[in-house]
Amino acid sequence: MSTETLLERITAYANRPDPYPLYAELREHGVARQDDGSYLVGTYHEIAALLHDPRISSDVRHRTHPDLRDRPEGLPPSFIGVDDPEHDRLRRLAMRPFGPPHSPGRIDALHDDIVDVARELVDGLRGRDRIDLVDDFAYPLPVTVICRLLGVPKEDMPEIRGWTDTIIASLDRSPDDDPDGRLRAAAQARVAMAGYLGALAERRRERPADDMISALVHDDGPEGRLTEPELMTTLTLLTIAGHETTVNLITNGMLTLLRRPEALERLRRQPELMPSAVEELLRFEPPVQMLPQRTPLTDIEVGGVTIPQGAPLFLVLASGNRDPLRFEDADHFDPARRDNQHFGFGSGVHNCFGAPLARIETQVALTVLLHGLDAPRLVEDPPPYRHSPILRGPRHLLVAGDGEA
Ligand code: HEM
Repeated sequence: MSTETLLERITAYANRPDPYPLYAELREHGVARQDDGSYLVGTYHEIAALLHDPRISSDVRHRTHPDLRDRPEGLPPSFIGVDDPEHDRLRRLAMRPFGPPHSPGRIDALHDDIVDVARELVDGLRGRDRIDLVDDFAYPLPVTVICRLLGVPKEDMPEIRGWTDTIIASLDRSPDDDPDGRLRAAAQARVAMAGYLGALAERRRERPADDMISALVHDDGPEGRLTEPELMTTLTLLTIAGHETTVNLITNGMLTLLRRPEALERLRRQPELMPSAVEELLRFEPPVQMLPQRTPLTDIEVGGVTIPQGAPLFLVLASGNRDPLRFEDADHFDPARRDNQHFGFGSGVHNCFGAPLARIETQVALTVLLHGLDAPRLVEDPPPYRHSPILRGPRHLLVAGDGEA
């Protein structure tokens, strides 16, 4: 009998193309204790309860599991990695440039820009027999968009991309490489990126432009203003979170549709279904499969099990999204699905800050691709995946068009 824990099997690279049978097994276990004392949860209602429980901490300083510990010394954690009330203050301050709550203001204004960038990218693919949807489209689109939103000049985008690649590579570590070296490189990249963004903010303080960085350094609210180090880590968080996930939603989305020509055709004919199709993709093939370690601040009972204080806790969002106790025909992709409260953007106080932007970007990206590519078909299925079990998506997605025999 295998002595591998379920967490080891879920994170094993060989299972990246199809982790869903393992998630079904996880749901049968309920709240699963691993031999190393960590806990895994994959059922919808238990995940929801834990995500909304203030006794479950997101604070990176409580983490004991050896993942993601690349926070550079001297900089405070960003708001994804702290608890309320500190989290709430920082999130509100970062939210201010977007206008009043529930009004996507600045994001809506970006819509036409996103269409232009997406069309330009697809135009550049015309005439080619074979393209890589990741490198040629899904990656450059969100990088360009988040840089425009923040106000990063075009000529500096390659540098942003370089730092982000290094930081993300630390999540993507493969078993045979040097994890310490990668973590060190990621920490250096974070410091360099935070330094760059801090200097850019300084320039915007003196000469404001119509961008988010200018708004962040000039706006005053009831909560005051972000301090210099807080500004640097917030901008770094937004830059990274603002595109790495979206890349995977676009590519997971195209992969799902190319595997289902009838769904692809239906979306071409019924573009009004695109918003619900994107929600369904966030349920069916979510880029964030599980959350990095959460930590109970006290013993917590859930699903008939007591999770002890301090035990590393992993919430497998992608498994909750396929829970048949919550979703009818959960393993079926239905672009018109209703009642679709998935965990693709998390839930609770840390729910995704950039969801309105990610939704618009992905809806535009898929629409432009469906209408701009000529008879696209997959060259390799399954495609090669990135290593990360947390941020899951193809590393490359090769697609052939009509030009190729
Ligand atoms: C949080 C997913 C796009 C910024 C989250 C969380 C998830 C998520 C699952 C919850 C993390 C947790 O509970 O610890 C996604 C997906 C995206 C996406 C799937 C694209 C398809 C974006 C974009 C931005 C962004 C475009 C920025 C403009 C953030 C931030 C947080 C967050 C700042 C932390 C929120 C907090 O701690 O209060 N995202 N995200 N995300 N996301 Fe996204």
